[in-house]
Amino acid sequence: MIRSVVRGFGAALPKRVMTNKEMEAKVDTSDEWIVQRTGIRQRYIAGEGETTASLGEAAARAALRRADLTADDLDLIIVATSTPDNTFPATAVNIQNRLGMRHGAAFDMQAVCSGFVYAVATADAYIRGGLARRALVIGAETFSRILDWSDRTTCVLFGDGAGAIILEAQQGEGTNADRGVLTAQLRSDGIHGDKLYVDGGPSTTGTVGHLRMEGREVFKHAVGMITDVIEAAFEATGTTADDVDWLVPHQANRRIIDGSARKLGIPLEKVVVTVDLHGNTSAASIPLALDTAASDGRIKKGDLVMLEAMGGGFTWGSVLVRW
Ligand code: UT7
Repeated sequence: MIRSVVRGFGAALPKRVMTNKEMEAKVDTSDEWIVQRTGIRQRYIAGEGETTASLGEAAARAALRRADLTADDLDLIIVATSTPDNTFPATAVNIQNRLGMRHGAAFDMQAVCSGFVYAVATADAYIRGGLARRALVIGAETFSRILDWSDRTTCVLFGDGAGAIILEAQQGEGTNADRGVLTAQLRSDGIHGDKLYVDGGPSTTGTVGHLRMEGREVFKHAVGMITDVIEAAFEATGTTADDVDWLVPHQANRRIIDGSARKLGIPLEKVVVTVDLHGNTSAASIPLALDTAASDGRIKKGDLVMLEAMGGGFTWGSVLVRW
């Protein structure tokens, strides 16, 4: 059985850090409120010349270096983003060009905060279906560019950044002992479209628009949706919470992360949390967290890692991968 095995990982952040204290100067908020309600202490904000494609390229180059590969060795690039450099061409094609890759295929995937989980699931399907051998999967965002900086209910929550992994076709035995993606569970329900959205777009307003969120409404659904897809992953593979070495959740809110882990019976020591450092970077948050925990030696080869995300759409999903 062909498995999509993680061959490399990398990440990139803008140069500029913005603390909660700096937020206090922009809107009527406080470090105390932000930390208490979200766990966020700082976020990175893209400066001049830093874009989704430039951050994605830097994350991709780091992943290629770690995998000891070049762009010539790839045949697929998927970029999960809701903040593309341009409406088209796809940011993935832009990054393909920046990497000097003149073959294969590249496309963007838009599932907002669940984008990375959707992109990994898609790359895995391409690899197992024989359509690709090595896929670069990037989550990259510059949400600072679509924030309403006068709206304290949203602007304090988000940040910019990018992360990437390289998935490679390898022969497995078809058991849970295999390295690679063991299952992916994807869900969406458009009835929730008005709870987290951008109030503009090419076909409606002809503008980019700004992010709007009914935070409390999103919060209300988050833990239930997250735990549902994780339980679906357990069921699909015959694994349990006890088998999981690391939970790497989408980093939106510390309270949602802790609540989901508690409900699943996964001890907090096994949960990778970076929301304090990065804020909510949407599709970039999981690969940024993966890079953090794999670089510092927490996530090791052979570990069972559960990824999960929930966001605009709503979309939500999980991926169980043996690192
Ligand atoms: O990544 C995609 C998924 N997104 C999420 O998962 C986000 C989900 N939602 C959340 O994380 C939380 O709902 C928030 C962090 C956005 C808000 O936390 P909350 O505990 O749900 O607060 P709330 O919206 O109920 O607001 C409580 C109070 C309100 O004041 P009143 O009405 O009680 O007087 C807000 O006006 O906090 C006020 N508030 C603020 N105060 C200081 C809202 N934003 C701020 C702020 N600073 N930045």
